[in-house]
Amino acid sequence: MSFRLQPTPPARPNRCQLFGPGSNTKLFAKMAASDADVINLDLEDSVSPSDKDSARANVIEAINTIDWNTKTLAVRINSLDTPYWYRDVVDLLEQAGDRLDQIMIPKVGNASDIYAVDALVTAIEAAKGRSKPINFEVIIESAAGLVNVNEIAASSPRIVAMSLGAADYAASMGMQTTGIGGTQDNYYMLHGDARHYSDPWHLAQTAIVAACRTHGILPVDGPFGDFSDDEGYRAQARRSATLGMVGKWAIHPKQITLANEVFTPSDEAVAEAREILSAMEDAKARGEGATVYKGRLVDIASIKQAQVIVVQSELIAG
Ligand code: COA
Ligand code: MG
Repeated sequence: MSFRLQPTPPARPNRCQLFGPGSNTKLFAKMAASDADVINLDLEDSVSPSDKDSARANVIEAINTIDWNTKTLAVRINSLDTPYWYRDVVDLLEQAGDRLDQIMIPKVGNASDIYAVDALVTAIEAAKGRSKPINFEVIIESAAGLVNVNEIAASSPRIVAMSLGAADYAASMGMQTTGIGGTQDNYYMLHGDARHYSDPWHLAQTAIVAACRTHGILPVDGPFGDFSDDEGYRAQARRSATLGMVGKWAIHPKQITLANEVFTPSDEAVAEAREILSAMEDAKARGEGATVYKGRLVDIASIKQAQVIVVQSELIAG
């Protein structure tokens, strides 16, 4: 164990990030009225090249005029390999008011990508006298992003959240699939005749969680494309929650309830965590560091595990 304490991520709920194309203005009010904790207005891959300028203008107007209540409000800008991103940053920082909380930077490959955006944002904030510093969230969705995930997480104190973007990640890795998240038909082990499906996203998710936890950033699971498959979404989200992620994207409103359900610790889980804390209090009073709870070992590490669940549930309860 390092003597350095692990930094804590921002204390706000991030169970569901709802996306909508910046070109589809009729969705904005519905997004604002939804139960998602975070709103991501998109200027990137859900907006066609011919709509980039108008989508940017729509999003700025929506930020300035719609009541977004207590939601975390973010805009996904275009990636640094396009001609659009600098105009996204300049117009957003110059024209959108302080209600804008975050910009999401997609397809980040290394720390210099973040440095470039940070330099531009910092200069505009100073020039315009913006009182609230803009936070960043980033998407890891390429081979380079995965290889450099830790230097990316360490690259700027503006970074508050990091997501896995399954579709672009799969393409960049050359994975033979068109699925966006979830179980992949050809990724299984054989045991006799029985197929046991493995999780092709596991390595990237775990790398993201580790980088995020090292640097006090919220780790988030990205999109699940098949919005007709509720059980598939739940299964993917439960795996992500088990690995330490705090939330997941919704690309359709029906996924919001699913994300909120999975990433809100259940009453049973919270009750059990509190019982473990109380069993450990009793053990401490007896001068013991380890004891038995429901026939299994609990010790001082169990206190920290239980606290993860209790703290998360208290944070969500507000
Ligand atoms: N946010 C808020 N409301 C949404 C929504 C969203 N992202 N997507 C759909 N809705 C609304 C629709 O307007 C419709 O409302 P209504 O009942 O008042 O008419 C209702 O939810 C049902 O929509 P549905 O007809 O099932 O979907 P659709 O065919 O209109 O749209 C998508 C499907 C996938 C194109 C759309 O959900 C979408 O654009 N999602 C976001 C895509 C995106 O941002 N991608 C980038 C990140 S990967
Ligand atoms: Mg992407």
